[in-house]
Amino acid sequence: MRIDVFTLFPAMFDGPLTESILKRAQENGLLNIRLHNIRDYATDKHQVTDEPPYGGGGGMVMKVEPIVSAVESVLGEALADTPVILTTPQGRVFNQAMAKELAQYPRLAFICGRYEGVDERVRILVVTDEISIGDYVLTGGELPAMVMIDAIARHIPGVLGARWAAEEDSHATGLLEYPHYTRPPSFRGLEVPAPLLSGDHAGIERWRRQEAIRRTWLRRPDLLLKATLTEPEKYLLATLADEWLRRNDNGR
Ligand SMILES: C[S@@+](CC[C@H](N)C(=O)[O-])C[C@H]1O[C@@H](n2cnc3c(N)ncnc32)[C@H](O)[C@@H]1O
Repeated sequence: MRIDVFTLFPAMFDGPLTESILKRAQENGLLNIRLHNIRDYATDKHQVTDEPPYGGGGGMVMKVEPIVSAVESVLGEALADTPVILTTPQGRVFNQAMAKELAQYPRLAFICGRYEGVDERVRILVVTDEISIGDYVLTGGELPAMVMIDAIARHIPGVLGARWAAEEDSHATGLLEYPHYTRPPSFRGLEVPAPLLSGDHAGIERWRRQEAIRRTWLRRPDLLLKATLTEPEKYLLATLADEWLRRNDNGR
């Protein structure tokens, strides 16, 4: 997959994109991330990329010409079928399903806003999707772009070492993932649950599924509304709900 990122601060991407799994994905040719400095596309003498807003008020607004010129000249004809994502707290909120869906494209582009954001005409002319990473406001779109690139890259075949890892992750199955343990089997009196040490693969799978349901019930019960559960799993959930109600009944 090729990803073009349009930013005023390309150096911010050093580190997150140049270490570990994302670094390896680029070395292996699975990911081709190109950083483009929007300032390089400002044509005036001082390479101005932001101006005060029309109508007054505080802050600066990123100018339309350098961004549109950058996106159009880098993407060229690919603009017609490449999602161009504007990072914005006003967009639809990013999640695992969106990461998986975006990973199906051969090419993506991200525009990183700064200051008060981008001139509205950027949205009209080149943006196809507006995405937020959560209901809070950051100083720029670089961190959101990196968050999304990381989450998307995990769904590109071959990027993760273990083929099944992304499919078992929290949110991928509609449940939170089960708890993990590794060596030693006992630490400060805390034992690794016996089923995990049993060597019985079916028993391990059963335990993991049960713990995923328990954990989801305790932490994110809202997710269970959409999860597909077998009849015995529904029974387990009813038992958990019953236990919870008894504990929270306060002797009424
Ligand atoms: C300070 S914010 C601008 C917020 C804008 N004035 C508003 O109220 O919608 C600057 C830039 O950071 C990025 N940004 C901030 N919070 C974000 C979020 N939650 N998700 C995605 N991008 C975000 C966007 O690119 C935005 O243009």
